[in-house]
Amino acid sequence: MKKALALLVAFAITAGTVMAGQITVGFAQLGAESMWRTANTDSIKGEAAKRGINLVFSDAQQKQENQIKAVRSFIAQEVDVIGLPPLVNSGWEPVLREARDAGIPVILADRTVDTSDDSLYVSFIGSNFIQEGENAGNWLVRELMGRYGEVSGEVFELVGTVGAAPAIDRKAGFEKVIANHPHLNIVKSQSGDFTRAKGKEVMEAFIKSPEWGRASRKIIFGHNDDMVLGAIQALEEAGINPGTECILIGVDGIADAFEAIAQGKMHCTVECNPLIGPQFYDMVEALVAGKEIPKIVYSIEGTYDYMCAEVLLPWRRTLY
Ligand code: AHR
Repeated sequence: MKKALALLVAFAITAGTVMAGQITVGFAQLGAESMWRTANTDSIKGEAAKRGINLVFSDAQQKQENQIKAVRSFIAQEVDVIGLPPLVNSGWEPVLREARDAGIPVILADRTVDTSDDSLYVSFIGSNFIQEGENAGNWLVRELMGRYGEVSGEVFELVGTVGAAPAIDRKAGFEKVIANHPHLNIVKSQSGDFTRAKGKEVMEAFIKSPEWGRASRKIIFGHNDDMVLGAIQALEEAGINPGTECILIGVDGIADAFEAIAQGKMHCTVECNPLIGPQFYDMVEALVAGKEIPKIVYSIEGTYDYMCAEVLLPWRRTLY
């Protein structure tokens, strides 16, 4: 009897059948644009497997319409909970209303939406992007003061995906800090779409700009590490030493950024935690059990620079 039951369970798993009582989650991932995103996907998939949750996963390849389609298909499949990291922060109200009307709770994972009706989602779990922008600005101000005894310089900003919450908020947080320093200004700002390839392309254009030629202290602030790593490639190909001729700050805290800092090619990375799978499914399980969950759960995040990157690199490689 036991053997037959085990066989039945094994068959149900291989056949992708949902077993009685098993939770089904639809997760509409936005793409695979960065190392951060890959780590986030691994965390969402890995933790579902660990907990025996039936995960229906889709990758929207950086297209909002694909994400909306995925959410609609999860509604049609009557999943228990939907996880959504919205590519951009507008245009979500109709589909979120459809999910709410169908009685399917939506947890915004990683990115937020711009809506005045916060009953359209049950919770947000992820990072405080404004705080991350402020962390980058505060690190820069301290660094300039320590190096030169004054806070001045020209910032070349590699912006994330246009309209995405991390791009809007990191910019806002950074600008809030530097607004207190009249001789520290953003002189160029362009989107590199959170990818290494586009970060490189944008940096190549920055290097050719008159602002680059005029800049006395060249600071590169990238809304993620991948774009900064692309920028480092562009600088090196142009014969510019990134470590000694520029100051480079990224966001995410990926191991590759720690390595670039340890090699003296980059100076600082502000952490953004992609490993939210365990907390996400804690919320899912609580919801399915009929419990209330907090409206906002922020990750606790640090800032890492050349003082510690080399020592921490082996540990970081074990994370993301
Ligand atoms: O939403 C989180 C951001 O998205 C990460 O900082 C970036 O690397 C990713 O593409």
